[in-house]
Parts: sequence; C-alpha cells; structure tokens
Amino acid sequence: MQTPLAVEAVELGKYIENGLGTHEGRLDILRDLNLQVSSGERIAIIGSSGSGKSTLLALLAGLDSPSAGKVRISGTEISSLDEDGRAALRGRSMGFVFQSFQLMPALTALENVMLPLQLAGRKDAKERALSALERVGLGQRLGHYPRQMSGGEQQRVAIARAFAPQPAILFADEPTGNLDEHTGERIVELLFGLNARQALPWCWSHMI
Ligand SMILES: Nc1ncnc2c1ncn2[C@@H]1O[C@H](COP(=O)(O)OP(=O)(O)OP(=O)(O)O)[C@@H](O)[C@H]1O
Ligand SMILES: [Mg+2]
Repeated sequence: MQTPLAVEAVELGKYIENGLGTHEGRLDILRDLNLQVSSGERIAIIGSSGSGKSTLLALLAGLDSPSAGKVRISGTEISSLDEDGRAALRGRSMGFVFQSFQLMPALTALENVMLPLQLAGRKDAKERALSALERVGLGQRLGHYPRQMSGGEQQRVAIARAFAPQPAILFADEPTGNLDEHTGERIVELLFGLNARQALPWCWSHMI
C-alpha cells in the first residue's frame, strides 16, 4: 500500500461571508487551493502580507475550518474529527513555531518545553525537554522565564518545544518575523539543522 501524504489539501477554500447571504462583498481569502506534502519534504509558502499564509497554515493544522474542500493529515481527513480528535491529532503529530513565540510567560524555559510532553502523558518529559534545550544551546537557561530572555532565545525555546515531542509535521509561521536579520539567520540554520536530523516534513510561511 502507498504511504499516505503527510499533508494534503484538496480544493481548499476559505471565505469570510458578508452576513447578508450573498456573494457581494464576500472576502475570498483562499480559493481552490491544492497542495501535497510528502513525508520528509519541506515546503515554503511565500506571499505578501494579507495573502493568506497564516490562514492556510491554520487550516492545514485544523486550527480553523475550511469553507470548502478538505485537508488530510497522514491520510486522515481532519474535518471528520471533532474538536477533541483534532486536538489529539495535533498533540500527536504536529509541532508549531510562530512569529510571536507563544511561550507561557509564567513558566520557565524548561517548563515551557515540558508542557506538551506532559500533556501527551510522556513519562520522560523532563529528560526530553532538557535534551531539546541543550540542542538549541539553552542548557544554561533552564530556569529562566521568557521575559528574561532575548527574542532569539525565546524563539529557540519555542523551537525546542516544537521539536521535543518529535512531531511528524512541523508548521512554522514566519518564525523569524520578529527577529533581527542576524538572529533570524541563526534561527533558520537551527531549524534546518534540527530538521535534517529528524527529517520532518514541514510547512513554512514567509512574507515577501
Ligand atoms: N477571521 C477573519 N475575518 C476577516 N478577515 C480575515 C479573518 N482572518 C483573516 N482575514 C483576512 O484574510 C487575509 C489573509 O490573512 P492572513 O493572516 O492569512 O495573511 P498572511 O499572508 O498571513 O499575512 P501576514 O504576512 O501579514 O502575516 C487578510 O486580508 C486578513 O485580514
Ligand atoms: Mg501571517
């Protein structure tokens, strides 16, 4: 049997209705979008601000529901799952890195990385989180809170958090968007380096 695609979008559409029930003034963010990502493949989604990159990633990850078409993750159509089923699928197989880091401010670096592992019931949460933070060069900052770290350091914590559970798919939405050019380049190198070791398929959005 053929291995299912890691990510597949079929005639995907996202419309914002005008509330009048007519097509007039309807905002078509995405229309008839088809996309296939195989296991181990990396794709970049490039487009100007407002072109729909974040919307697409949210649809692919099941964080938002499409107006038309479907998304399959490893062969499972995500609209066939309920909210809990989608959350379980995300927890099991997806990692996220966002432009705004999205760390929990009241948790230390170590606790932030441990959180998804604990939610997934992993008994080795602490060991895995420690090793992920060491890999991103933050082995000396375990007890520090996000506000005590630079933007690049916070993003490295977010990357450790995304990689630690070894997800099947990694989504990165402008992961360098809030960083200066030099730090951004280092984050890209880190992401690609970790990715080469784990061979994840991933979807990357970047504004031009
Ligand atoms: N819930 C919503 N209601 C109305 N409009 C929306 C909604 N979500 C997104 N949009 C609009 O859809 C368009 C695409 O937004 P999106 O955030 O996906 O763009 P983007 O490509 O990620 O942009 P950026 O590079 O600035 O992050 C924008 O015009 C945005 O205003
Ligand atoms: Mg965006």
